Amino acid sequence: VNYPLWDVPTLGGTWIIGIISILHVFVSHFAVGGGAFFALTEWLAYKNNDEKMYDFLKKHSLFFLLVTTVFGAVTGVGIWWSISLASPNGTATLIQNFSLAWAIEYLFFLTEIATFAVYHYTWNHMPRKQHVTVAIWYAIISYLTLFTINGILTFMLTPGKWATSHYWFDGWLNEGYGPAIVIRVGMTFAMAGMYAFLTTSQLKDPEFRAKMMRYASKWFIPAAITAPIGLAWYFLSLPPDVLQNATHGFQTAAAGNFSVLTRAIYMAVVAAATVMGFVLVGPYLNARGFTTVASFLFLVCGLLVTSTTEWSREMLRKPYVVYNYMYSNGVLKSEVPKLIEKGYVASFKWATQNPAELGQNMFRNQCASCHTVDGYRSMKQLLGERDEKAILALLQTMQNLDPKQNPYTTIMPPVIGKKSELEALSKYLYSIKHPETAQSANTTMAPPQV
Ligand code: HEC
Repeated sequence: VNYPLWDVPTLGGTWIIGIISILHVFVSHFAVGGGAFFALTEWLAYKNNDEKMYDFLKKHSLFFLLVTTVFGAVTGVGIWWSISLASPNGTATLIQNFSLAWAIEYLFFLTEIATFAVYHYTWNHMPRKQHVTVAIWYAIISYLTLFTINGILTFMLTPGKWATSHYWFDGWLNEGYGPAIVIRVGMTFAMAGMYAFLTTSQLKDPEFRAKMMRYASKWFIPAAITAPIGLAWYFLSLPPDVLQNATHGFQTAAAGNFSVLTRAIYMAVVAAATVMGFVLVGPYLNARGFTTVASFLFLVCGLLVTSTTEWSREMLRKPYVVYNYMYSNGVLKSEVPKLIEKGYVASFKWATQNPAELGQNMFRNQCASCHTVDGYRSMKQLLGERDEKAILALLQTMQNLDPKQNPYTTIMPPVIGKKSELEALSKYLYSIKHPETAQSANTTMAPPQV
């Protein structure tokens, strides 16, 4: 409510966040799981005096260094860039509450990169036993980065005791922490195996190559165990109304009403199970035939699983950015009654002063965090055949705070606006599909607001 708006046509700002975050999750879980992978694999190489395995590790360590430091760090900064533009109020809430946690996170993160640099550049210059110790340290530090950030990520869906205490640690160690960490730790092991396929597929010696393929496959076993346990626990940890939203689609699926969220969860489970099956019949049972191309395709499957799981997690939180506290458009739940009374222009710092632009401006500030005009979750499509009057009626329903009379309370925030402002919004929304009715709204340039 306090910041200017970033307008992203067609895709919407949230998808910019989504794409960058999914890529980041995909690389950062590899960076964390890689710690355990290097520690255990190098320990095996050391114990068995296995020169071939040492050669493999040196190759893999270069690949790892490039992917995690370059791609991981760039997408990490990209997340800050996109969330602060597309969701400034939510980002401010996180920074204000978790400055300390983030300071710790960055400390671990710097140590993590420095430790890996030491690891990578000392392959032939350090006693072998000592080099294994560096790997173990890297593994410990990289898991510490995950343990720190996990509290902040889960906070947004299950703020727990923070809702009343507003004490950062209550928010950090919340009900969602345990199940999420169980799932993510399993995922880091699987990711380590998945990326190892790629390096392994480049090995020349067919015997050794097949051995390493089977070895990397085994890194999926923890995820096969932790994913179902973590998922069940995760659902139990959800607030009751979120859980109901998530399962609603299952109960009504038979009637053909398969909600988007339920579909996403279903897809995530199917995709994860497919990946597991793929590992078994591919690199494990047919280790010799698993080529670089197959390894690469496998990575794409992994990306699909990451996307669907992360997307479901985001969908679960709708209509909030911080559950039960702040809506996706930055409006605080506790302030809604007051804001509705004051009206839109008086409540939003960056509201337009130009009446001709009011409707569009309201849409951008209140709806565009989830909708676009004619792209993702578009108004053009969702408004259907409603005329201006029907749209106004819908907006008035959306303003009702009683869930019995407003079926949208679980997916959309209440609209802030006086009757005249709601009329301006419905006029604008109607003009999206019927441009001939548009007032000068889209053509006149408003004087810039100071
Ligand atoms: C927190 C995210 C969020 C915000 C903010 C939001 N919506 Fe929605 N809206 C949704 C979701 C999710 C749906 C369901 C979409 C679907 O079924 O594909 C939806 C559905 C709709 C529909 C179709 C409803 C129906 O029953 O046909 C309309 C119309 C709509 N929104 C208008 C608006 C308007 C206008 C605003 C701003 C005042 C707004 N939305 C703000 C998330 C949001």
